[in-house]
Amino acid sequence: MSILEIKDVKSGYGKSTILHNVCLHVLVGECVAVLGPNGAGKTTLLRTITNIISPSAGEILFKGNSIVKTRFFRLSRMGICHVLENRHNFPDMSVEENLMLAASRTTSKQREAELFEYCMNLFPKLAERKNQRAGTMSGGEQQMLALAKGLMTDPEILLLDEPSTGLAHILKEQIFEAIKEIVNSGKTVLVVEQDAVAALDIADRVYVMEQGEIVTEGTPDMLAKDSQLVRAYFGIS
Ligand SMILES: Nc1ncnc2c1ncn2[C@@H]1O[C@H](COP(=O)(O)OP(=O)(O)O)[C@@H](O)[C@H]1O
Ligand SMILES: [Mg+2]
Repeated sequence: MSILEIKDVKSGYGKSTILHNVCLHVLVGECVAVLGPNGAGKTTLLRTITNIISPSAGEILFKGNSIVKTRFFRLSRMGICHVLENRHNFPDMSVEENLMLAASRTTSKQREAELFEYCMNLFPKLAERKNQRAGTMSGGEQQMLALAKGLMTDPEILLLDEPSTGLAHILKEQIFEAIKEIVNSGKTVLVVEQDAVAALDIADRVYVMEQGEIVTEGTPDMLAKDSQLVRAYFGIS
């Protein structure tokens, strides 16, 4: 069953249309990656799904119901968690305070404690630093915190905007290992990325976006055999 369906969506800023008739879907439990270069429209796609900007045409369905008019905070309560591209942690609050604040959707103290425990196991670095002010942490730790905050909302689907951007290789690997574990635990993930290697490694299916259009879709195996794509995204001729 599709948890998220995007049908012929057009969206943009003011008079400029950025997304042109984008169609994609995400099945329950899948990890779907949208791969594309800088400026392709990946962030715009996630902003359109969570109604930070409204589509000018098309339909977006969450579990079969239209969400095009549903506001961001309501979507978050419905179980759609959008982890924004710039990590948006509260710098003067501790790691633990950031996480507890994010847990507002959770209905019981017990569930909150379970989620906190899960995040501490998933990111031992955050456990070590739970009393540290978020603003004093490295880029990789901030990204871990942003992901953990997303998990604390107990989402049904996580939308991740370039979780690896600006991170050293080793940290990138840690972040993607964590995303794999999140998917293996049964969560549904839609991740947008520039990093083709990472995206093909974690995704069940991949869409390639260029200039606001989906130009290719398939499994990582299929796409890795596409010589034009390999040239474009892996720099191999
Ligand atoms: N707030 C904005 N106002 C106007 N144009 C924007 C805004 N944000 C992004 N754009 C434009 O939309 C296009 C797609 O950007 P974006 O969705 O951020 O791409 P990506 O995330 O794939 O790098 C770019 O041409 C960018 O300049
Ligand atoms: Mg972006």
